Amino acid sequence: MESSARREEGPLLTPRQIFERLDRYVMGQEEAKRAVAIAAHNHLKRTQARRQRRGSLIKKSNILLIGPTGSGKTHLARNLAEILSVPFTTVDATEYTEAGYYGKDVEVMVSELLFKAHHSVEETQRGIIFIDEVDKIARRSQGARNGAGSRDIGGEGVQQALLKLLEGREVFVPMNVTQAWNKSDFVQIDTRDILFICAGTFSDLHAYGEGGARPLGFGAEEASRRGRQRITLRQLVDFGMLAEFLGRLPVMVQLQALGEAELLRVLTEPPDSLLREFRELLAYDEIELEFTQEALRAVARFSGERGLGARGLRSILEHVMADVMFEAPERRRRLLRVDEDFVSARLLGLDSAQIHT
Ligand SMILES: Nc1ncnc2c1ncn2[C@@H]1O[C@H](COP(=O)(O)OP(=O)(O)OP(=O)(O)O)[C@@H](O)[C@H]1O
Ligand SMILES: [Mg+2]
Repeated sequence: MESSARREEGPLLTPRQIFERLDRYVMGQEEAKRAVAIAAHNHLKRTQARRQRRGSLIKKSNILLIGPTGSGKTHLARNLAEILSVPFTTVDATEYTEAGYYGKDVEVMVSELLFKAHHSVEETQRGIIFIDEVDKIARRSQGARNGAGSRDIGGEGVQQALLKLLEGREVFVPMNVTQAWNKSDFVQIDTRDILFICAGTFSDLHAYGEGGARPLGFGAEEASRRGRQRITLRQLVDFGMLAEFLGRLPVMVQLQALGEAELLRVLTEPPDSLLREFRELLAYDEIELEFTQEALRAVARFSGERGLGARGLRSILEHVMADVMFEAPERRRRLLRVDEDFVSARLLGLDSAQIHT
């Protein structure tokens, strides 16, 4: 990548700079953003030392992100990749199997990174691999509380297979993931400096008070933050994660369910927010879209109350705006003001099961 030469000369992004850039796109989750910013900064330091052929004592600290659905785990990782301009790939843990079973071998994760790095081994070795859904590769225990369903094989074996990648060994990976393996060339990659960020919901472990109830409404974030429970290593082991696996993910960060106030910010604040997107769509039809604050709150509340998080906002808004979008090209009315009544009328009787998240 041509940009790497330029990058090497400039000073490294500081944790604060990384945090501030993340902050524009990721609402709330201060603790997670800070932890990720520090880990990412250290990652840059370590890989720079390596490029300059200096020895370094800095150990990599792979990250485990735990948080409910729609809290921004994937969103955080995606934005981090944009900021760092290092090769980055997102993989789904459930697609992998231990060697010999039907499915991908874990080395393929590194191939995918290699592909993102335009086949530069050097670049690949300083990249980041985001492994989503690691809770789905929990060991299936007698309790079977991990939601792995009918999975009989895999889980534990995949964790075992991942150990060697996480701790940094040389692996041979196919140069081209799309080809049949026996036909492709293999290349040796040192995973020592590849940063791994794992994520999962571990849904059973989120106890926001008894019965899963958690405070809602404005100011609820503070309340739930104070009252929240720390998930312990012990709980993760009981859930079915191998101690050796967790041991290779020294930075463990919990993301919180977004409260109404944060969901409201998600709707409006990010440069690529949903509201901006809808405005742009309607601007094509010369319609100026305006939402009252109460209308936005109603949307945020609907998602928050049903535990849909930021993930639910899009489909809720799509639903609210469906008629408008259908008629927009014919309407060409200058100003469209959406108020709370408009939203409530359309959300009335909408079942959360109808909301695709
Ligand atoms: N904290 C946040 N700030 C801004 N937008 C967010 C935030 N969290 C989620 N979003 C938005 O919601 C969408 C879904 O979030 P994301 O995919 O990151 O959830 P997740 O935590 O990975 O959930 P899952 O466990 O279901 O994969 C994102 O694409 C993003 O647009
Ligand atoms: Mg996700």
